[in-house]
Amino acid sequence: MYRIGEEEVEEVRKVLLSGHLFRVGEGVEGHLHEVDRFEHEWAQLIGTEYALCMNGGGTAALICGLVGMGIGPGDEVIVPGYTWMATATSVLAVGAIPVIAEVDETLALDPEDVRRKITPNTRAIIPVHMVGRPANLQALLEIAREHGVMVLEDCCQADGGSYRGKRLGSWGDAGAFSFNYFKIISCGEGGALTTNDRTLYERALVFHDGGATFRPYAKDLSIPIFVGIQLRADEVMGAILRVQLRRLDGILSDLRRIRKRFEQELADLPGLRLAPNNDPEGDCGVVVAFQFDSEADARHFASEIGGWLPIDSGKHVYSNWEPLLAKRIMHHPDMNPFNHPRNQRLRTDYTPDMCPRTLDILKRTVFLSLHPDWSEEEVSRRIEACRKAVKEAVAV
Ligand SMILES: Cc1ncc(COP(=O)(O)O)c(C=O)c1O
Repeated sequence: MYRIGEEEVEEVRKVLLSGHLFRVGEGVEGHLHEVDRFEHEWAQLIGTEYALCMNGGGTAALICGLVGMGIGPGDEVIVPGYTWMATATSVLAVGAIPVIAEVDETLALDPEDVRRKITPNTRAIIPVHMVGRPANLQALLEIAREHGVMVLEDCCQADGGSYRGKRLGSWGDAGAFSFNYFKIISCGEGGALTTNDRTLYERALVFHDGGATFRPYAKDLSIPIFVGIQLRADEVMGAILRVQLRRLDGILSDLRRIRKRFEQELADLPGLRLAPNNDPEGDCGVVVAFQFDSEADARHFASEIGGWLPIDSGKHVYSNWEPLLAKRIMHHPDMNPFNHPRNQRLRTDYTPDMCPRTLDILKRTVFLSLHPDWSEEEVSRRIEACRKAVKEAVAV
């Protein structure tokens, strides 16, 4: 989906010729500080005080967000049943337990099910802005505030999207972004965490840098250094991401224009229903989403228009999270959170049919993936294919 070209090549070339590929370079002559600059620019774009760029993708960003929140054994974190498995596995990576909740027709976390599933053990909620479509942040933040739990936005599929005019990743206590190969902008892999919370940021910073006490930043920390792991970004990543960031709003505006054409031109077509959207303006436009009364109707429509059903998207559907459902976590039994004494009183009763509404909605939804570089003629042709598919279905 992303656009990439000569500008990225030129900026990477500069980094390689500088000879400084390591992000840390205070006082080093010729160091370009690409990662530092990207972090500053990303925080500005999202509208948060801090951004931390890292290797290890959106998964690492989610883990760092949870570390920053101080989440661990004894804690439950609510995640939706429709998301990439990493949303749930990042919770296990910090020793806590994911509680899987339903999505609603918007394809994002259902606030009503969150309300039902929240308990005194719940420490955080992870709303996921799947396929660039904003979750119902107003309702979810209200519930979170009522119960004193934190919100980590999973923005991995929604780089640059917004909700009510404010960027995703600036609403919750923290936001996690992915720049992997499939995302709106990319550097191959990589991710970023955003937050306004200084302590959360410092914990994430220390954790992602292996607890490196000798860094120049160590003198400014308000928390003691602890041992983490190594997830540092490098200067090549930083250089690519700075160019990608400049391309982002152009990509979003093209995707949104294309999605609007589909929605406007198909809005009144009998037999075709658009999936409800928590914020059509802020939606990234990665897909146009249709909903049907039955799986058979959805499958017929998808096959006619080159679309796809989210139920078929493998590890994005909780019932396919096989290692998690089987509780095979980490390499050593004592590091498996399901064996941790503090987790024994938590809800760990997963079954493939535990979120029936999610499965039903995912079977009746059709996504058409959009591309920002489609010509107007290409869009017209695809809209016509949608019209034809609906007419045929009505005639049957
Ligand atoms: C919703 C969601 N969360 C988390 C991730 C993890 O991101 P990454 O693959 O960059 O680690 C992804 C990646 O596909 C994702 O789609």
